[in-house]
Amino acid sequence: MSSGQEGDTLCFFINGKKVTEDHADPETTLLSFLREKLRLTGTKYGCGGGGCGACTVMVSRYQPATKTIIHYSANACLLPLCQLHGAAVTTVEGVGSTKTRIHPVQERIAKAHGSQCGFCTPGMVMSMYALLRNKPQPTMEDITQALAGNLCRCTGYRPIVDGCRTFCQEANCCQANGGGDCCLNVKDEPDEQDHDKEEFLPLDPTQELIFPPELILMAESSNPKTLTFYGERMSWVSPTSLDELVQLKTSNPKAPLVMGNTNVGPDIKFKGVLHPLIISPTRVVELFDVTQTPRGVWVGAGCNLSEVQSLLEKLVPQFPEEKTELFRALIRQLRNLGSQQIRNVASLGGNIMSAYPNSDLNPVLAAGNCKVSVVSNGGRREVPLNQDFFVSFGKTVLKPEEIIVSVFIPFTREGEFVGAFRQAPRKESAFATVTTGMRVFFSEGSRVVQEVSIYYGGMGPTTVSAAKTCAAIISRPWDDETLGRAYDVLLDELVLPPSAPGGKVEFRRSLTLGLLFKFNLEVLQKLREMNVIKDELPERIRPLPRDIQPSLQEFQHVSKDQSAQDPVGRPIMHRSAISQATGEAVYCDDIPRTDGELFMALVTSSRAHAKITSLDVSEALRLPGVVDVITAKDIPGKKVRTIFGYDEELLAESQVSCVGQMICAVVADTRAHAKRGAAAVKICYEDLPDPVFTAEEAVEKSSFFEPRRVIWRGNVTEAFKTVDQLHEGQIRMGGQEHFYMETQSMLVVPVGEETEFNVYVSTQWPTLTQDAIAETLDIPSNRVTCHVKRIGGAFGGKVTKTSILACITSVAALKTSRAVRFVLERGDDMLITGARHPVLGRYKVGFMKDGRIVAADIQYYTNAGNSIDESTLVAEKILLHMDNAYNIPNLHGRAAACRTNLPSNTAFRGFGVPQSIMIVENMINDVAALLGRHADQIREINMYKGPSVTHYKMEFSPENMLRCWDECKVKSDYSARRKAVDQFNQQNRWKKRGMSIIPIKYGIAFAESFLNQAGALVHVYKDGSVLVTHGGTEMGQGIHTKMQQVASRELHIPPSKIYISETSTNTVPNTCPSAASFGTDANGMAVKDACTTLYQRLEPVRQKNPKGSWESWITAAYFEKISLSATGFYRGPDLYMDWDKMEGQPYAYFTYATCCCEVELDCLTGDYRTVRTDLVVDIGRSVNPSVDIGQIEGAFMQGLGLYTMEELKFSPSGLLYTRGPSQYKIPAVCDVPLRFNVYLLPDSHNPHAIYSSKGIGEPILFLGSSVFFAIKDAVAAARSDSGLVGPFPLDSPATPERACLACASPFTQKIPVSKPGSFKPWALNI
Ligand SMILES: Cc1cc2nc3c(=O)[nH]c(=O)nc-3n(C[C@H](O)[C@H](O)[C@H](O)COP(=O)(O)OP(=O)(O)OC[C@H]3O[C@@H](n4cnc5c(N)ncnc54)[C@H](O)[C@@H]3O)c2cc1C
Ligand code: FES
Ligand code: FES
Repeated sequence: MSSGQEGDTLCFFINGKKVTEDHADPETTLLSFLREKLRLTGTKYGCGGGGCGACTVMVSRYQPATKTIIHYSANACLLPLCQLHGAAVTTVEGVGSTKTRIHPVQERIAKAHGSQCGFCTPGMVMSMYALLRNKPQPTMEDITQALAGNLCRCTGYRPIVDGCRTFCQEANCCQANGGGDCCLNVKDEPDEQDHDKEEFLPLDPTQELIFPPELILMAESSNPKTLTFYGERMSWVSPTSLDELVQLKTSNPKAPLVMGNTNVGPDIKFKGVLHPLIISPTRVVELFDVTQTPRGVWVGAGCNLSEVQSLLEKLVPQFPEEKTELFRALIRQLRNLGSQQIRNVASLGGNIMSAYPNSDLNPVLAAGNCKVSVVSNGGRREVPLNQDFFVSFGKTVLKPEEIIVSVFIPFTREGEFVGAFRQAPRKESAFATVTTGMRVFFSEGSRVVQEVSIYYGGMGPTTVSAAKTCAAIISRPWDDETLGRAYDVLLDELVLPPSAPGGKVEFRRSLTLGLLFKFNLEVLQKLREMNVIKDELPERIRPLPRDIQPSLQEFQHVSKDQSAQDPVGRPIMHRSAISQATGEAVYCDDIPRTDGELFMALVTSSRAHAKITSLDVSEALRLPGVVDVITAKDIPGKKVRTIFGYDEELLAESQVSCVGQMICAVVADTRAHAKRGAAAVKICYEDLPDPVFTAEEAVEKSSFFEPRRVIWRGNVTEAFKTVDQLHEGQIRMGGQEHFYMETQSMLVVPVGEETEFNVYVSTQWPTLTQDAIAETLDIPSNRVTCHVKRIGGAFGGKVTKTSILACITSVAALKTSRAVRFVLERGDDMLITGARHPVLGRYKVGFMKDGRIVAADIQYYTNAGNSIDESTLVAEKILLHMDNAYNIPNLHGRAAACRTNLPSNTAFRGFGVPQSIMIVENMINDVAALLGRHADQIREINMYKGPSVTHYKMEFSPENMLRCWDECKVKSDYSARRKAVDQFNQQNRWKKRGMSIIPIKYGIAFAESFLNQAGALVHVYKDGSVLVTHGGTEMGQGIHTKMQQVASRELHIPPSKIYISETSTNTVPNTCPSAASFGTDANGMAVKDACTTLYQRLEPVRQKNPKGSWESWITAAYFEKISLSATGFYRGPDLYMDWDKMEGQPYAYFTYATCCCEVELDCLTGDYRTVRTDLVVDIGRSVNPSVDIGQIEGAFMQGLGLYTMEELKFSPSGLLYTRGPSQYKIPAVCDVPLRFNVYLLPDSHNPHAIYSSKGIGEPILFLGSSVFFAIKDAVAAARSDSGLVGPFPLDSPATPERACLACASPFTQKIPVSKPGSFKPWALNI
């Protein structure tokens, strides 16, 4: 079959409207169809691989057999358009709109402050909407399940969950005041955020879109016909009968059967696999049949995993417990397999046939003696799912032309037990590291094993059987002796080479033992329940707690004297939250296409350190749609960006210094053509010797960016001689991917005359982008206007690299004289744009027996990557924060930015501080461990007290820092809970609890004085409406909302009269980046300045008509020729740091906070759950407490990710492996602390910032480390059960792998450790 043929007409509905497509291309996904063809841009692109949920839509289908309509959420990025024939799709635009009526889900998420940058919000709305269509009064469990596959990088999820919670039937009260008292009844307490159902629109299912009757008729049609669609490169055929399917597969054995497309789709997208023909069997009814027999149930292979789960859940209560052991084990796996969006489409047959190494179902199906019924031209046969079935990676024993029709899941017998366990990098929505299915059968009344089968996933290229281990168990009594032998056999049987793909070799091996041990405990429990054994049982390991409780946010009332109209200090909703929730909010890539617009794709280096010997673009230029290729030679102006004396090439010309370095760019008429063009560019390299990847290698080769910084106070060398004890240690901290939900996006439009350009760009620093483009194109800055409406998250990652990407895009626009759009794919974004700096910290500390730290010498090495970017500034900030809250009299710090052959790292929320303090706090933990005391005591002893001076001689008062600490101890009930934790740990061997309490002192503003300035421009129009522009960019942090509040107070008008459209360089020039937690401080003062000027200008008209309205004054002012436009300016503090003298005033003031966390850790798997978090934060008098609490919670969760989950993995040749949400795990709903309380410190004032507020964007991120230290505390308890006391190494992030291995359980201790240097590890330890 080939393109050019006449295909069928695809017919489906979107938001109640019929869509017919005569030329449906099998390569088109629903997402691109929605966004590019229909311009329904509410559905977002976040990853393209089913891993983020930003593209969630609801699909509804009519099922003729049952005459019912089903609704389910699905990822539009994986849904092939052709699959949608006969379906009704609902997107966020179809749910509600500000033009008609917003939907309660949209309203509640917005009002609960669940939308910051808003990029994830439509996806959240759709997941919740689909849930409510099926269950209008869901449970909390339903809600957390529904949202498990939706990532949000801003909010920390708590407000989203709280907004959704209002739909629950369960009690809606916060119950966080203790004593079961509802917060709604506590009137005299400070304000708390809670949500009264009364304040929301009611959920009215009758208002939802009806399922199109035409589709019901279509589905009922008695003779459906085969459908065929032809695209540019692929054809699609959808047969209607099993016979036809068999014939098709026989003639096209290589053509995949696409069901959920969750395996085939990612292969096409990420691996560039091309299937000339796709067979879609979704209309073949036999594949969906379910038949019950006396021995079990046959389930159609086409059933999706959600259907399988609900089928099994329906069957379980219908049978005696002993018959449904396997069903229940499968349900357990299914609940944790992928996300709901994935399970709603992924088929049972597809899961089996994908034969993933870490499939969750296959080990259980195999252990459970399941079999498949397959059909082909040669007839039908049954094939057991056993060790012979799974042949190798992605391969089964079935012939290519064979089709699985159904899967047999047998009942279990009395005395037969099935276990299913998995461990994954994140508790939900993550492929397992190791997953297993185990089954054992005992003869009646006996503990002697008659049958046993054990299968693992994650321990080889496919599902593997532990047959030898089973042989060691069979015919023996199930007891310690047998199991003891089984562990040893298992250890020998499932060996992984030290450089096995996927790494984590010791962990995976230890998990095989740990999970078998868990099964053992379950089996013993059951044998005992059946009175087969009478033994005293070891502890029963219960699952980690998971119910998210209502949380508490406590902040101050505004003063009673404050005018009701004055919004400052009130918890006002983010001003765009509703538009974000309805999908109407416009992000860069939502801007409609302009005439003749081109799309750009980058070609990047595949070598870490090499000469480019040739660049051949001829094949790319021959491809359809490709217009041009942009190389360094096309750059008319400066070909490099110069930072701190180092040049960074925009496009590499002769040499590359990291994998992912940009070399050239292809422009084409569509995204797909540009991507194909980029893939066709051929580059030859000649490798250069000795690439440098790790900090250690850089130190060895003295590969640094200068200047390296040093700071000290006192004399550590002398002080070390006087102390009671000396200790040396080190900790390594991994980097962190920004993972803003909106990838780097821009659109450069040539105006057409005098080299003028309009640039729409998602950047935190429009001025930098403007300057860089002007320099690159060799034109004056006044020809470049940068517009930023909003950014879908940035976190420091949309400053320097964004400007370079914009330069390349503008060269393409200049060369082609056409508008050029450039949006990075998630994988490329992760590969190219760098991350937070990984840091290696080494320290020597001297302390007294009473816990006083007298001297500390700390060396920081940051892994800067191949270009300097902001690395030396990061190193400086590291040294400035190395004292944190502690008055260490002799302190010596050195920081060096290592130059390596990895992609250049850059700014990330906190700018080095989270790395700096982590090393210090770890050092303090070591001191506590050496002294046998809890770390909070050592922290308290060493804190600054009274009037204080930092190590760079800046005076400050730590009073509020100490107040935060004390208040946090009280609010968290620290002492009592500490005792309870110790008691828990005495009673439990395999689960431990840990607690920690950590303070922070965080400097606000830029040490580079010139950056502490801001401008604003305020226009009042004749109708009284006000347009405010300022230099800050809205990236979710709510700066526009706060500026609206400032303008409202200063102009004495309600916020509704004030509008902020965008940030642009032609309204407010020469702006500073929105960074350093200084946006509100600086821009707030500038807006205030402009508004004050305007208000004063109105004074004469106000005096003439004191009772007049705002509108009447404005009209009068216009006729009196009073200017109704004013600029505002803020000249911020003159801060400085003199590194030669090692002194300065680099900050305007400090923001303080303390965080207390408690975790529960499963020592056998390293899984943990944060059971409670209490945060007390001093942010002066908040301009908008709900926005600020949003920053606090969001930053905390980002910190939790940094310190406990997020791992960037590089191959030994410097290639980033982790290039999407499937490999790189950021926190999801399942990671929210079960109780998450935030208290804003009362009675705090700050003379240095607007309205006595304080900057808050960054400081709290570090406090995510309190989860790390709580895990470390729990690990210490586990170690002490193994007889190990004192300090121990635990690098950050404390992933389940690290936590489990650090616990040093008898199982981990069995694993032989390969000698470093004796093998090439799968991943680098950078
Ligand atoms: C984001 C994400 C997360 C995931 N998480 C997990 C997880 O945690 N655990 C886990 O186990 N899996 C996970 N998966 C994998 C997922 O379960 C499988 O991709 C899915 O089950 C495959 O089913 P499908 O219908 O989508 O297959 P498709 O992609 O449609 O097809 C896959 C393959 O199966 C073949 N095939 C399909 N049906 C048949 C049939 N009836 N007979 C013969 N061959 C057939 C096709 O020819 C094709 O080669 C995840 C996938 C994604 C995208
Ligand atoms: S874009 Fe579809 S799941 Fe991420
Ligand atoms: S609000 Fe969720 S990603 Fe920004």
